[in-house]
Amino acid sequence: MVCVSERLEKDSELFEVLEGVFDYWTVMGIYRLMNKGVIARLFGAVASGKEARVYWGEGPRGEDLAVKIFYVQASSFKGGRLKYIAGDPRFEGLRGDFRKLVYAWCLKEYRNLKRAYESGVPVPKPYAVERNILVMEFIGKDGVPAPLLKEKKPSDPVKAFSELKEYIRRLYLRAKLVHADLSEYNVMVDEGDRLVIIDLGSAVLASHPMAQEFLRKDVENIYRFFSRLGVDTGPPEEFLEELLSRGG
Ligand SMILES: Nc1ncnc2c1ncn2[C@@H]1O[C@H](COP(=O)(O)OP(=O)(O)O)[C@@H](O)[C@H]1O
Ligand SMILES: [Mg+2]
Repeated sequence: MVCVSERLEKDSELFEVLEGVFDYWTVMGIYRLMNKGVIARLFGAVASGKEARVYWGEGPRGEDLAVKIFYVQASSFKGGRLKYIAGDPRFEGLRGDFRKLVYAWCLKEYRNLKRAYESGVPVPKPYAVERNILVMEFIGKDGVPAPLLKEKKPSDPVKAFSELKEYIRRLYLRAKLVHADLSEYNVMVDEGDRLVIIDLGSAVLASHPMAQEFLRKDVENIYRFFSRLGVDTGPPEEFLEELLSRGG
């Protein structure tokens, strides 16, 4: 395993950890986070998706970090979820190159995490954001991310279902956010079956013109997943009505 600390190691090693995937500005962003005392060491990647790669790192007090670095050149990103930025009043007037869009997307995920975290929704605690780099609490152990809900069936699915509903409630009613990409792929199952919602880049304010449509999709995904596990979920409409009447 390659460990990086700015004082002790050379630039080339950081490039090695980043696998040559990231550009000069991204590497500089990592340095900035090291100088600010946010990241002490950066280990290898633990996951790579279409839009981002997630690294395991360590903070100044030895705490585990998840460092999500968004690609600045991924063409797949363009056709993907960036459409959700349009219509979000926090990103009105956004112009310029693709890089800026990615930075805005990353900042949006950070802000969404913060809002959700402060509203008591179990999400990774956000620590810092710098350009296309998001630093947050690492969910998992010894550099191994906790399994996704898709991969690990909770021991008590009825309980997990009602917990997840409560988190959707808090997200919508307290944080005034809709996840917009919620499914068994974006919920982690930490030790003791603790559920943690991740990947809040798509999340929009409840006032977003498409918020209700996204909320319906999120709720339906969760209902479908748990009814397949044998939970008597009842119809999603009831829960949706509850949310919309209380949130409106
Ligand atoms: N805070 C975290 N701690 C540990 N692992 C994480 C964390 N956030 C994400 N991961 C891992 O990285 C994967 C991808 O992260 P995610 O935010 O869902 O990005 P995307 O789906 O857009 O690639 C997750 O499925 C999970 O395995
Ligand atoms: Mg995801």
